[in-house]
Amino acid sequence: MAQKILVTGGTGYIGSHTVVELQETGFDVIVVDDLSNSRIKVLDNITKITGTRPAFEKFNLADQIKTLDFLSHHNDISAIIHFAASKAVGESVEIPVKYYRNNLNSLMNLLDGMKNYNIPNIVFSSSCTVYGQPNHLPVTENTPRKDAESPYGNTKRVCEDILNDTITAYPQLKGIALRYFNPIGAHHSALIGELPIGIPGNLIPFITQTAAGIRDELKVFGDDYNTPDGSAIRDYINVVDLAKAHVVAIRRLLEGNNKSGYEIFNLGTGKGLSVLEIVNGFEKVTGVKLNYKIVDRRAGDIEKIWADTTYANNELGWQAIKSLEETLLSAWNWEKNIRNIK
Ligand code: UD1
Repeated sequence: MAQKILVTGGTGYIGSHTVVELQETGFDVIVVDDLSNSRIKVLDNITKITGTRPAFEKFNLADQIKTLDFLSHHNDISAIIHFAASKAVGESVEIPVKYYRNNLNSLMNLLDGMKNYNIPNIVFSSSCTVYGQPNHLPVTENTPRKDAESPYGNTKRVCEDILNDTITAYPQLKGIALRYFNPIGAHHSALIGELPIGIPGNLIPFITQTAAGIRDELKVFGDDYNTPDGSAIRDYINVVDLAKAHVVAIRRLLEGNNKSGYEIFNLGTGKGLSVLEIVNGFEKVTGVKLNYKIVDRRAGDIEKIWADTTYANNELGWQAIKSLEETLLSAWNWEKNIRNIK
């Protein structure tokens, strides 16, 4: 019988792509999502891609009673991938308690349930935000973490600590924290992708919405950074490559190949690209001109970061393989699909 994986936040951006990859590898998937930042229709589109509709329950994992009740009835789950979280950096500065309550409680409730109902494995969505602006580039998993720039970033840091401490206390539990760099792009079917509610905060959805005529103008935040073209540098990773790394991490736990109870991996491409390189790349690959303007730096942004992926490549036998061109085109095809642009 296929092993069952609980994917929290499975109707969200990275979650939905991971559900597809898990199903295509032969896993049974059950999704829990409160649909606070995603739509139920995502399940229809996952079904169109894979031919199988994942099981689904709608509730907020910060609700301890619901979460423990759910896990008590699903103790046949082999592993959890925990994506569900609030993730808007700006909002986290305005309403920090919402972020601490949602992001910390949901992880703690899952860990309690794992201990109570013998669910041994968890993969946690962390972020390169835990490194802040590193002193040396690229960053390895041993690069020291820095104080978070936002309550959102702090929840990722504290959740990593909660996970580590809990696994130390209960050695029957095993966990992997995956530190994502900047996930972009969409599934090649253009049936699932990133669906920001309201004005996008992230670069790629803002670019595709500008290209689609929904936004008048892209603002490039800063051209006076200490980088070759003056704009900020990030490590942009294709979301399907990223999703596949979750399947590898789950297999590692299920097959007992982990080196210690708690492991951390950087998930990036290893290559830094500037905002202007992304803008130019998008124009080149899609043939669509972007109306953009250079403005001041955005508060809280770091100058540059990219991953050293050696450890993930060697230990997981995983690598980001999709080209920037293919990735940007997939983001545009997704935007065109949801806006009915031919
Ligand atoms: C942001 C968060 C990060 C979070 C990630 C989730 C901050 C400081 N960091 O990363 O903690 O994990 O999102 O996806 O918010 N840019 C523009 N114009 C725009 C939008 C972005 O020039 O309209 C630039 C930014 O200044 C940055 C780059 O594009 O240099 C990428 O920005 P974004 O997509 O928001 O990601 P991060 O800020 O790296």
